[in-house]
Amino acid sequence: MAHCPRPIANYGVYSMQVNQNKISIKETKDEVIAIAVFQVPGGQPPSATPLKYPKEFEDLSQYVRKEEFEGKSGQVYVFNSITAFKFKVLLYGLGEEKDFNLDYLRRFGGTAVRYAASAKSASVSIVLPNVKNASEAAQSIAEGAILASYKPIKFKTKKDDYFEVKTANIISQENVSDAIKRASALATAQNYVRDINENPANIATPQMLAQSARDLSKQNGLACTVFEKDDLKKMKMNAILGVNQGSALPPVLVIMEYNKDKKDVPFYAVVGKGITFDSGGISIKPAKGMQEMKYDKTGAVTTLGIMRAVSELKLPIRLIGAFAATENMPSGTAQKPGDIITAYNGKTIEVLNTDAEGRLILADTLAYVAERKPQAIIDLATLTGAIIISLGRYRAGLFSNDDNLAKAIFEAGEATFERVWRMPLDKEYVEMDKGDFADIKNIGSEVGDAGSITAAAFLQEFVGECKWAHLDIAGVDMISEKHSYLEKGASGIGVRLVVNALERLAMK
Ligand code: BES
Ligand code: MN
Ligand code: ZN
Repeated sequence: MAHCPRPIANYGVYSMQVNQNKISIKETKDEVIAIAVFQVPGGQPPSATPLKYPKEFEDLSQYVRKEEFEGKSGQVYVFNSITAFKFKVLLYGLGEEKDFNLDYLRRFGGTAVRYAASAKSASVSIVLPNVKNASEAAQSIAEGAILASYKPIKFKTKKDDYFEVKTANIISQENVSDAIKRASALATAQNYVRDINENPANIATPQMLAQSARDLSKQNGLACTVFEKDDLKKMKMNAILGVNQGSALPPVLVIMEYNKDKKDVPFYAVVGKGITFDSGGISIKPAKGMQEMKYDKTGAVTTLGIMRAVSELKLPIRLIGAFAATENMPSGTAQKPGDIITAYNGKTIEVLNTDAEGRLILADTLAYVAERKPQAIIDLATLTGAIIISLGRYRAGLFSNDDNLAKAIFEAGEATFERVWRMPLDKEYVEMDKGDFADIKNIGSEVGDAGSITAAAFLQEFVGECKWAHLDIAGVDMISEKHSYLEKGASGIGVRLVVNALERLAMK
């Protein structure tokens, strides 16, 4: 095979340290202390304290101008009462207690870290608010803090404008250190996904993704096999090879395995779409926005993050993480509309649109993984623009052939705030993919009817008898405007969701 360049992954800084601190609030050595408060319902008269402060801090209310801070959700108020304390106080509104969910605490953790950065304080104290479950609360705050500490600046040469907050100290009398450890494993894995994903296509080549998998596997004790182009030819992975045909870079198929030889634990697989750049191929995309197709590898990179988190959390499961990676490019050798290929499972596919390439590389990968007979397969893919039309950017599309699996993923979405919405897979949609000249065609409709569903129905043809769920993450893979804990750029959404879902499945 031709010489394959193996570029070194460009890694940024993405893990902040979060500790528990059992001191009383007023003893903190940090320059910034963040406190979250609930709003008291029902428009209290201004004379009454319209907020609920933590017990030991009720006297704080005297420093707050009530017309400027009511504790509405997301509201921020800063005061620097040097006479009373040595630190700056950031108050963060959680809104009314009845509307509370844990994501408010993720936002609180993120806001605290962002404020500390703006105040050039390398560490920040965050007071654990009085909510029912201290561990869950601490986990959410720590996740928000760590996620907010990541900035996609590794390609900027002047980093001085970006102050790094190195530590967050969560002040709590209850022991929450295990929860903080969990948060660190999860949020650091999510940042790792964001960081790899920020590499554009000239750096994040299929070879680089394979190298990232090798590096991770070595570090975390996973088994890792990388199938190169020649192997894929021998294995008759013609769907992956077809998509790769127009590219100057060879493809890879990566199979990682955690707890490979454990027999007495539940066995699952995650599969990701790894298109390092999606130009559309011969069915080329318009120029506007094409640069965003560097994120078309998100599914693959997310499987790396899931493998990292699962192995760091030492979950009692066996897990395969698999992805195929290639560019989708036009050229004289590229696959053409109308081409018919035979996939790894023997089904023939009519390639009517070369821009529907994700389902092709997933077809071979899913069929290969299904041979191992895991108890469930979950795939993640930036599969269709149509899912953005259906669900916008707040929920990923969920498709499944199994109600229990779908339920576990839905509930995981609500718990992690990486939300999903289940879409149908009725047989009428399956029919739409029937080929005219081959078994199946890679677009269900010329005009794009039910585009996300027919894409999912296509994938379903390659999972055999396995229980399977597909997450169409095309709408949530990147953030276009920063929010309280995620910056503009790759979101890393999917890691916390899938790990949480795997935990739910394994508990049953
Ligand atoms: N990678 C795209 C889907 C996508 C679109 C992701 C926008 C993120 C943002 C996928 O490969 C694709 O091109 N899908 C086509 C399918 C069509 C040709 C049936 C699409 O959605 O237009
Ligand atoms: Mn495409
Ligand atoms: Zn694509």
